[in-house]
Amino acid sequence: MWTEKYRARLIDDISSQPVVKQVMRSVVEGSGMCNTLFHGPSGTGKTSAAHAVCRALFGPRLFYDRVLDINAGDENGIAMVRDRIKRFSMLMLGARDAGWPCPDIKVIILDEADSLTIDAQSALRNLVETSAHNTRYIMICNKITRIIDPITSRCQIFYFPRIPKVAIKERLHRILTSEGLEDPNDLVEICEERLR
Ligand SMILES: Nc1ncnc2c1ncn2[C@@H]1O[C@H](COP(=O)(O)OP(=O)(O)OP(=O)(O)O)[C@@H](O)[C@H]1O
Ligand SMILES: [Mg+2]
Repeated sequence: MWTEKYRARLIDDISSQPVVKQVMRSVVEGSGMCNTLFHGPSGTGKTSAAHAVCRALFGPRLFYDRVLDINAGDENGIAMVRDRIKRFSMLMLGARDAGWPCPDIKVIILDEADSLTIDAQSALRNLVETSAHNTRYIMICNKITRIIDPITSRCQIFYFPRIPKVAIKERLHRILTSEGLEDPNDLVEICEERLR
Protein backbone atom coordinates (compact mmCIF):
# COMPACT_ATOMS: atom_id res chain seq x y z
CA MET A 1 0.00 0.00 0.00
CA TRP A 2 3.02 2.29 0.33
CA THR A 3 4.40 1.58 -3.15
CA GLU A 4 2.70 4.60 -4.72
CA LYS A 5 2.69 6.77 -1.62
CA TYR A 6 6.47 6.52 -1.35
CA ARG A 7 7.30 6.16 -5.04
CA ALA A 8 10.53 7.98 -5.84
CA ARG A 9 9.35 11.19 -7.58
CA LEU A 10 12.58 13.13 -7.90
CA ILE A 11 15.80 11.95 -9.52
CA ASP A 12 17.47 12.37 -6.12
CA ASP A 13 14.85 10.12 -4.47
CA ILE A 14 16.11 7.15 -6.46
CA SER A 15 18.48 4.96 -4.46
CA SER A 16 21.55 3.42 -6.08
CA GLN A 17 21.62 3.58 -9.93
CA PRO A 18 24.36 6.28 -9.89
CA VAL A 19 25.07 6.24 -13.63
CA VAL A 20 21.52 6.77 -14.77
CA LYS A 21 20.99 9.47 -12.15
CA GLN A 22 24.07 11.35 -13.30
CA VAL A 23 23.02 11.21 -16.95
CA MET A 24 19.43 12.24 -16.15
CA ARG A 25 20.66 15.19 -14.09
CA SER A 26 22.77 16.35 -17.02
CA VAL A 27 19.74 15.98 -19.32
CA VAL A 28 17.80 18.28 -16.99
CA GLU A 29 20.71 20.72 -17.01
CA GLY A 30 20.46 20.94 -20.79
CA SER A 31 22.87 18.38 -22.22
CA GLY A 32 20.17 17.06 -24.56
CA MET A 33 18.25 13.81 -24.37
CA CYS A 34 18.91 10.69 -26.42
CA ASN A 35 16.43 7.96 -27.11
CA THR A 36 16.85 5.82 -24.05
CA LEU A 37 16.25 2.25 -22.99
CA PHE A 38 16.03 1.24 -19.32
CA HIS A 39 16.20 -2.47 -18.60
CA GLY A 40 16.71 -4.68 -15.59
CA PRO A 41 14.89 -6.65 -12.93
CA SER A 42 11.56 -5.65 -11.45
CA GLY A 43 11.42 -3.04 -8.70
CA THR A 44 14.73 -1.35 -9.40
CA GLY A 45 13.39 2.13 -10.26
CA LYS A 46 13.03 2.12 -14.06
CA THR A 47 9.49 3.50 -14.25
CA SER A 48 10.16 5.92 -11.40
CA ALA A 49 13.32 7.24 -13.08
CA ALA A 50 11.54 7.81 -16.41
CA HIS A 51 8.79 9.81 -14.73
CA ALA A 52 11.24 11.68 -12.50
CA VAL A 53 13.31 12.97 -15.42
CA CYS A 54 10.20 14.05 -17.35
CA ARG A 55 8.79 15.80 -14.30
CA ALA A 56 12.10 17.59 -13.82
CA LEU A 57 12.13 18.63 -17.49
CA PHE A 58 8.58 19.86 -17.94
CA GLY A 59 7.06 20.39 -14.48
CA PRO A 60 3.53 19.43 -13.49
CA ARG A 61 1.58 21.88 -15.68
CA LEU A 62 2.97 20.79 -19.03
CA PHE A 63 3.62 17.18 -18.14
CA TYR A 64 0.74 15.72 -20.12
CA ASP A 65 1.25 18.13 -23.05
CA ARG A 66 4.82 16.99 -23.50
CA VAL A 67 4.81 13.42 -22.19
CA LEU A 68 2.88 10.42 -23.45
CA ASP A 69 3.00 7.52 -21.02
CA ILE A 70 2.02 4.17 -22.49
CA ASN A 71 2.13 0.75 -20.93
CA ALA A 72 2.70 -1.77 -23.70
CA GLY A 73 1.55 -4.48 -21.31
CA ASP A 74 -1.98 -3.13 -21.87
CA GLU A 75 -1.71 -2.34 -25.61
CA ASN A 76 1.05 -4.14 -27.45
CA GLY A 77 0.16 -4.10 -31.13
CA ILE A 78 0.88 -2.10 -34.24
CA ALA A 79 -2.47 -0.29 -33.94
CA MET A 80 -1.35 1.31 -30.68
CA VAL A 81 1.91 2.44 -32.31
CA ARG A 82 0.05 3.97 -35.25
CA ASP A 83 -2.87 5.43 -33.34
CA ARG A 84 -1.31 6.72 -30.17
CA ILE A 85 2.44 7.05 -30.60
CA LYS A 86 2.42 8.28 -34.18
CA ARG A 87 -0.38 10.75 -33.51
CA PHE A 88 1.38 12.17 -30.44
CA SER A 89 4.70 12.41 -32.27
CA MET A 90 3.04 14.44 -35.03
CA LEU A 91 1.59 17.04 -32.66
CA MET A 92 3.16 20.47 -32.73
CA LEU A 93 5.12 21.42 -29.64
CA GLY A 94 2.94 23.50 -27.35
CA ALA A 95 3.82 26.38 -25.06
CA ARG A 96 6.81 26.38 -22.76
CA ASP A 97 6.68 26.73 -19.00
CA ALA A 98 9.27 29.32 -18.01
CA GLY A 99 9.72 27.76 -14.57
CA TRP A 100 11.11 24.52 -15.98
CA PRO A 101 13.82 23.57 -18.50
CA CYS A 102 11.18 22.62 -21.07
CA PRO A 103 13.44 21.64 -24.00
CA ASP A 104 11.85 21.65 -27.43
CA ILE A 105 10.95 17.96 -27.40
CA LYS A 106 8.12 15.66 -26.50
CA VAL A 107 8.87 12.43 -24.64
CA ILE A 108 7.15 9.10 -25.11
CA ILE A 109 7.57 6.74 -22.17
CA LEU A 110 6.93 3.24 -23.40
CA ASP A 111 6.78 0.99 -20.37
CA GLU A 112 6.94 -2.81 -20.63
CA ALA A 113 8.24 -2.38 -24.19
CA ASP A 114 9.24 -6.04 -24.23
CA SER A 115 5.52 -6.87 -24.55
CA LEU A 116 5.34 -5.18 -27.97
CA THR A 117 4.81 -7.49 -30.93
CA ILE A 118 7.58 -7.64 -33.52
CA ASP A 119 5.35 -5.78 -36.00
CA ALA A 120 4.76 -3.03 -33.45
CA GLN A 121 8.49 -2.78 -32.76
CA SER A 122 9.24 -2.47 -36.49
CA ALA A 123 6.69 0.32 -36.85
CA LEU A 124 8.18 1.99 -33.80
CA ARG A 125 11.68 1.80 -35.24
CA ASN A 126 10.50 3.85 -38.24
CA LEU A 127 8.80 6.38 -36.00
CA VAL A 128 11.92 6.80 -33.89
CA GLU A 129 13.63 8.03 -37.05
CA THR A 130 10.88 10.12 -38.60
CA SER A 131 10.03 11.91 -35.34
CA ALA A 132 13.65 12.53 -34.30
CA HIS A 133 13.37 16.31 -34.80
CA ASN A 134 11.08 16.78 -31.81
CA THR A 135 10.41 13.47 -30.04
CA ARG A 136 12.47 11.30 -27.70
CA TYR A 137 11.60 7.83 -26.46
CA ILE A 138 12.23 6.28 -23.08
CA MET A 139 11.61 2.57 -23.48
CA ILE A 140 11.50 0.40 -20.40
CA CYS A 141 11.64 -3.37 -20.16
CA ASN A 142 12.75 -6.31 -18.07
CA LYS A 143 14.08 -8.43 -20.93
CA ILE A 144 16.17 -6.49 -23.44
CA THR A 145 16.60 -9.63 -25.54
CA ARG A 146 12.95 -9.21 -26.57
CA ILE A 147 13.64 -5.80 -28.13
CA ILE A 148 14.70 -5.87 -31.76
CA ASP A 149 18.24 -4.78 -32.62
CA PRO A 150 17.14 -1.84 -34.83
CA ILE A 151 15.59 -0.29 -31.71
CA THR A 152 18.32 -1.09 -29.18
CA SER A 153 20.94 0.22 -31.60
CA ARG A 154 19.16 3.58 -31.66
CA CYS A 155 19.02 3.99 -27.88
CA GLN A 156 21.34 4.88 -25.06
CA ILE A 157 21.00 1.81 -22.85
CA PHE A 158 20.99 1.76 -19.05
CA TYR A 159 20.92 -1.38 -16.97
CA PHE A 160 19.21 -1.12 -13.56
CA PRO A 161 20.84 -3.73 -11.31
CA ARG A 162 19.16 -5.03 -8.19
CA ILE A 163 19.29 -2.56 -5.32
CA PRO A 164 21.75 -3.49 -2.53
CA LYS A 165 20.01 -4.75 0.61
CA VAL A 166 21.54 -2.00 2.70
CA ALA A 167 19.87 0.65 0.49
CA ILE A 168 16.53 -1.20 0.67
CA LYS A 169 16.78 -1.34 4.46
CA GLU A 170 17.63 2.34 4.67
CA ARG A 171 14.64 3.32 2.51
CA LEU A 172 12.33 0.97 4.41
CA HIS A 173 13.45 2.44 7.70
CA ARG A 174 12.67 5.94 6.46
CA ILE A 175 9.19 4.89 5.28
CA LEU A 176 8.36 3.12 8.54
CA THR A 177 9.55 6.09 10.55
CA SER A 178 7.39 8.52 8.60
CA GLU A 179 4.45 6.16 9.09
CA GLY A 180 4.96 6.63 12.81
CA LEU A 181 6.09 3.15 13.75
CA GLU A 182 7.65 3.36 17.16
CA ASP A 183 10.30 0.77 16.56
CA PRO A 184 10.83 0.43 12.82
CA ASN A 185 13.87 -1.77 13.35
CA ASP A 186 11.61 -4.73 14.25
CA LEU A 187 9.82 -4.56 10.93
CA VAL A 188 13.04 -3.94 9.02
CA GLU A 189 14.36 -7.16 10.57
CA ILE A 190 11.26 -9.08 9.42
CA CYS A 191 11.64 -7.67 5.91
CA GLU A 192 15.31 -8.56 5.93
CA GLU A 193 14.36 -12.19 6.60
CA ARG A 194 12.28 -12.09 3.42
CA LEU A 195 15.13 -10.52 1.42
CA ARG A 196 17.43 -13.46 2.23
N1 LIG B 1 16.19 2.63 -6.93
C1 LIG B 1 15.09 2.91 -6.21
N2 LIG B 1 15.10 3.91 -5.30
C2 LIG B 1 14.00 4.21 -4.59
N3 LIG B 1 12.82 3.57 -4.71
C3 LIG B 1 12.77 2.57 -5.61
C4 LIG B 1 13.89 2.19 -6.40
N4 LIG B 1 13.53 1.17 -7.20
C5 LIG B 1 12.25 0.92 -6.91
N5 LIG B 1 11.79 1.76 -5.96
C6 LIG B 1 10.44 1.83 -5.43
O1 LIG B 1 9.78 0.61 -5.72
C7 LIG B 1 8.51 0.83 -6.33
C8 LIG B 1 8.51 0.29 -7.75
O2 LIG B 1 9.48 1.01 -8.52
P1 LIG B 1 9.41 1.09 -10.10
O3 LIG B 1 7.98 0.98 -10.55
O4 LIG B 1 10.16 2.30 -10.54
O5 LIG B 1 10.21 -0.24 -10.51
P2 LIG B 1 10.46 -0.86 -11.97
O6 LIG B 1 11.94 -1.04 -12.10
O7 LIG B 1 9.78 -0.03 -13.00
O8 LIG B 1 9.77 -2.29 -11.82
P3 LIG B 1 9.02 -3.19 -12.94
O9 LIG B 1 10.10 -3.75 -13.83
O10 LIG B 1 8.34 -4.25 -12.13
O11 LIG B 1 8.05 -2.30 -13.67
C9 LIG B 1 8.28 2.35 -6.25
O12 LIG B 1 7.57 2.65 -5.07
C10 LIG B 1 9.66 2.92 -6.18
O13 LIG B 1 9.72 4.16 -5.52
MG1 LIG C 1 8.17 -0.41 -14.24
